[in-house]
Amino acid sequence: MQIIREPDALESALADLREGGRTIAFVPTMGALHAGHMALVAEARARADHVVASIFVNPTQFGANEDLSTYPRREAGDAAMLEAEGVAILWAPDTAIMYPDGPEATLRAGSAAEGLDGESRPGHFDGVATVVARLFDQVRPDVALFGEKDYQQLAVIRQLVAELGLPIEIIGVPTQRDADGLALSSRNAYLSDDERIAARVLPRALGDSARDIARGCAIDEALEKARRRLADAGFDPIDYVALRDAETLQPVTALERPARLLAAARIGRTRLIDNLPVTPD
Ligand code: PAJ
Repeated sequence: MQIIREPDALESALADLREGGRTIAFVPTMGALHAGHMALVAEARARADHVVASIFVNPTQFGANEDLSTYPRREAGDAAMLEAEGVAILWAPDTAIMYPDGPEATLRAGSAAEGLDGESRPGHFDGVATVVARLFDQVRPDVALFGEKDYQQLAVIRQLVAELGLPIEIIGVPTQRDADGLALSSRNAYLSDDERIAARVLPRALGDSARDIARGCAIDEALEKARRRLADAGFDPIDYVALRDAETLQPVTALERPARLLAAARIGRTRLIDNLPVTPD
């Protein structure tokens, strides 16, 4: 695996990979890799001839009070994991390469960024859209893979690709979880032992409310029940527990089409997100 930090070197390595019309699948990440990221890499290998991954902790998607400076960075271990899974190129640019004019979001995310994390983390999806558009421009993949763990991000990127008319197929990969149900996340490393135990309530509360809604229970009551369980477990604040259309992410008042139950809440200093599908029975 080549670890590349300069655009010219990336350009020529990509040209070599593409020889003979070979295809490229791309997995963008911020590093601190875990089995969730590696599921994207495995799916990428199945979808193209070569896999390119990136690691870039993107400053423009972090709010002023968020964890940019403490975000876990362990590139050597990450590189070993990617190499073992057959990744051809690790693109690891620094901030001056990605933002020669300074770290500022220059793209506006579309309507999929409204509400949910778009509301709790103002500007977050503009930063995501900006960096992903630049990464796509640098790597020009045939396919790119994103986790359903960040369901709204996946919707924002699908919209970005459609609006810019980019010839890139976007694949969503199901959320990978620990044995106790907690979605894998680089931020789980921040949790104390007690917080880690309380955190399990998030997937459980969503799972139970998703089942209730699918069975025809009142949506508002099911959402309120999940909120109450999160509060009882010590989550504070609860940014949202919401039912949205699975495709448009518009609010849902009656379950007539596939929907998604999404939540974000803080336990101690760690903000966790999760989501589950809700399909009419
Ligand atoms: P990061 O949080 O590192 O996640 C990289 C990719 O891994 C995203 O597509 C995310 O949805 C996916 N992922 C994370 N945890 C997962 C899990 N438990 N199961 C399945 N997939 C999971 O998301 C970002 O980085 C950034 O916003 C990025 C897209 C790289 C832009 O900076």
